[in-house]
Amino acid sequence: MTLPKRVKLVEMGPRDGLQNERETIATADKIAYIDLLSQSGLEWIEATSFVSPKAIPQLADAAEVFAGIRKAPGVRYPVLVPNLKGYARAREAGADAIAVFTAASEHFTKRNINMTIGESLDAFRGVVAAAQADDVWVRGYVSTAFGSPFGDAVTPQMVVDVCQALVEMGCDELSIGDTIGVGVPSQVEELVPMLARALPLEQVAMHFHDTRGTALANLYAALQCGVGIFDSSAGGLGGCPYAPGATGNVGTEDVLYLLDGLGIETGVDIDKVRAASRFIASKLGHGLTSKTFQALEAGDA
Ligand code: HMG
Ligand code: MG
Repeated sequence: MTLPKRVKLVEMGPRDGLQNERETIATADKIAYIDLLSQSGLEWIEATSFVSPKAIPQLADAAEVFAGIRKAPGVRYPVLVPNLKGYARAREAGADAIAVFTAASEHFTKRNINMTIGESLDAFRGVVAAAQADDVWVRGYVSTAFGSPFGDAVTPQMVVDVCQALVEMGCDELSIGDTIGVGVPSQVEELVPMLARALPLEQVAMHFHDTRGTALANLYAALQCGVGIFDSSAGGLGGCPYAPGATGNVGTEDVLYLLDGLGIETGVDIDKVRAASRFIASKLGHGLTSKTFQALEAGDA
């Protein structure tokens, strides 16, 4: 077993983290939150979504948020884009990195973006072509890779097929999502080698939600299988309104604690992430689920 020396973290707090929050967060607070995260050493911070404001009202202020954040040198701020309309809005706001998103479950894809998987891939071909012409970096998400909230079967081969289509159309990176946090390490150990045979594993990130407490175990399994990019959310915020029961992403502080203990570099200062978590928690009106965040806060009390 060889673990990577360094891991790339992609911060989800401002996008996946906030999209599921019930109370509207003020635009200025979102901007302040992202600016705090930008000081932590995180080099990739997913900032917001240029989706239909009817689908995700919480992120209807995407353009204002994107315009308001201080673009820290060396930090990229990808944004979610479901179609060409979202792409145009994102570009107008100044985004130079985007993420398109589909899934391995037909049922979830229909609920989430009102398209079949095939229709979504067709739609993204146009978006990715436009992005390539503009020299815009593109990530492609494949959600529900380990199970669908609607009970339809998802097989590893279905995940691989969607991933291959996204890479062939020109995505720079993929993110494989356990959207509802149902996966276990044996599933990761089955899927990742299949992915590695089909495409360059250096382009693959894993995105674990921690709904059943398996996210860190899955992340460790993926590390052992050679994955070197992980999504996480400060404080463990997150969830998808179109995936019933989904809770937050694995907490950034938890991932940092684990990786640090394993001797794997990230370049990220856990106390600065924690400061960002503390700030946003004060605006949300509820606590945060990251165990490491809780332990560090209790230690200071
Ligand atoms: P639709 O209703 O089929 O789209 O929605 P439409 O093209 O018929 O448009 C309907 C209305 O939305 C129209 O406005 C459009 O102009 C407008 P109206 O004429 O009714 O006033 N519209 C837009 N407005 C702003 N920006 C846009 C845009 N597109 C259309 N980009 C659509 C289809 C894809 C638009 C919609 O379903 C949608 O926005 N879905 C996004 C859902 C979402 O954001 N889900 C959460 C993110 S995915 C996730 O969390 C999983 C992930 O974390 C990984 C994991 O955990 O697995 C990434
Ligand atoms: Mg997610």
